[in-house]
Amino acid sequence: MMSFTVRPYRPADLPQVCAITVASFDGVAIDRNIERQYGPVGGRGWAERKARAVSIDCVEQPDGVFVAEAGGEVVGYVTTRLDDFGRIGRIPDLAVAEPHRGHGVGRALIRRAVEWLRGRGMALAKIETLEQNARGQALYPKLGFREVARQIHYVMPLTGDGGAADQTDAPGADRE
Ligand SMILES: CC(C)(COP(=O)(O)OP(=O)(O)OC[C@H]1O[C@@H](n2cnc3c(N)ncnc32)[C@H](O)[C@@H]1OP(=O)(O)O)[C@@H](O)C(=O)NCCC(=O)NCCS
Repeated sequence: MMSFTVRPYRPADLPQVCAITVASFDGVAIDRNIERQYGPVGGRGWAERKARAVSIDCVEQPDGVFVAEAGGEVVGYVTTRLDDFGRIGRIPDLAVAEPHRGHGVGRALIRRAVEWLRGRGMALAKIETLEQNARGQALYPKLGFREVARQIHYVMPLTGDGGAADQTDAPGADRE
């Protein structure tokens, strides 16, 4: 049994949080899917985009970020965001370093995040996962989350000749 603790995030954890993000989200990030179809966007790769999104959550809501520590090292993290108007707290990101997976770290991080959101007055906790992420889909219902919606993400290039034409104006397109 691997021993780990979950503790509040400290700004000094950020480089390790970013490193875990970059190593963990290949195959389970929307930006990764975009890059697979269109290549790096604006000269920035998916990993840089994902690490930046996580960093913003760490900077803007640092007391809502928790890390798992094992052997003095950060091995996982979870971020949260509050919504005092709507009272639906979000869990935007969660990742555990590959060698430490399967030992309950992800589960413990989510539990801690949920507890924190409850303590900050949120009525519901929301988390999203991609259809291609079997782990997320297995984990969240076990912790009490219920599926409420599925969403499709579409992307269209706005530069070059990559297909920005309105297809309904194409010759031969059906018109009323
Ligand atoms: C998702 C993730 C955080 C889970 O972390 P973890 O520490 O391995 O999770 P746990 O050990 O607490 O496992 C909890 C549950 O996750 C599910 N799970 C874990 N590994 C799995 C795998 N390889 N395949 C399917 N389900 C899996 C199981 O349902 C497991 O429950 P069980 O212990 O009753 O079998 C980790 O796999 C990860 O970092 N993945 C890459 C990043 C990612 O997908 N983040 C979430 C984005 S929505």
